[in-house]
Amino acid sequence: MRLILLGPPGGGKGTQARLLAERYNIPQISTGDILRDAVKNATELGKKAREFMDKGMLVPDDVVIGIIEDRIQLPDCGNGFILDGFPRTVKQAESLDAELRDLSLKIDVVLDLLVDFDELNKRLSGRRTCGNCGKGYHLETSPPRNEGICDSCGGNLIQRDDDKSETIKKRLEVFQENTEPLRGYYKKRGILRQQKGQGDIQNIFQDICRAIEGL
Ligand code: AP5
Ligand code: MG
Repeated sequence: MRLILLGPPGGGKGTQARLLAERYNIPQISTGDILRDAVKNATELGKKAREFMDKGMLVPDDVVIGIIEDRIQLPDCGNGFILDGFPRTVKQAESLDAELRDLSLKIDVVLDLLVDFDELNKRLSGRRTCGNCGKGYHLETSPPRNEGICDSCGGNLIQRDDDKSETIKKRLEVFQENTEPLRGYYKKRGILRQQKGQGDIQNIFQDICRAIEGL
């Protein structure tokens, strides 16, 4: 099964992608996570990406398209994959379509997580992530048992550099301008599925699973 998670920044793409990856045994491919790793390791890719990410802007299309082209051909994608945060522009979506056509593959469903903008702001400013295993927390809605420490692996929780208020505002604007048009793009192709992204995380997950299993 091949899925795209299309929601806005803070929409819960990463949270739901991790649950889906476990349930369906397919990898979560997050361009944001791949780019953050590259920044952390100060690779050439990381140096190039950082200046855009710190400003809340999109990394150039050719850079992320290249990453995904290679990634979806790795052996762990044999049974499918979950794209989390890609595509984000019409150009990225068109490149993905072209590559999948060449590989005789297709996307089964595009899940669009719908969340109010006020809620997105709250989620992003309270988000913390385990620097070791990547598990996500929120200071108010899903805090760790011990402050600053991951419940699962004991790693330290960190705040993302782009979760500062000015950068959050920019990311939301960039989403509206560049990524919202993809709703129309996938609706036209008949594979867009809009899902309520607000409420209990497990309930949202169950709704998504029902949608997938009813395909
Ligand atoms: P990326 O890492 O993809 O960030 P994003 O799209 O802004 O989305 P987030 O990761 O912030 O949110 P999410 O939807 O994963 O939500 P989460 O589950 O964490 O991209 C970062 C940057 O990389 C971009 O700005 C860009 O520069 C670059 N980039 C990445 N991909 C690119 C591409 N394709 N092209 C160009 N550039 C690219 O949840 C958020 C918080 O809410 C958490 O604290 C969580 O615990 C909480 N939460 C989740 N669900 C719920 C719920 N139901 N109720 C209450 N709280 C919840
Ligand atoms: Mg994410």
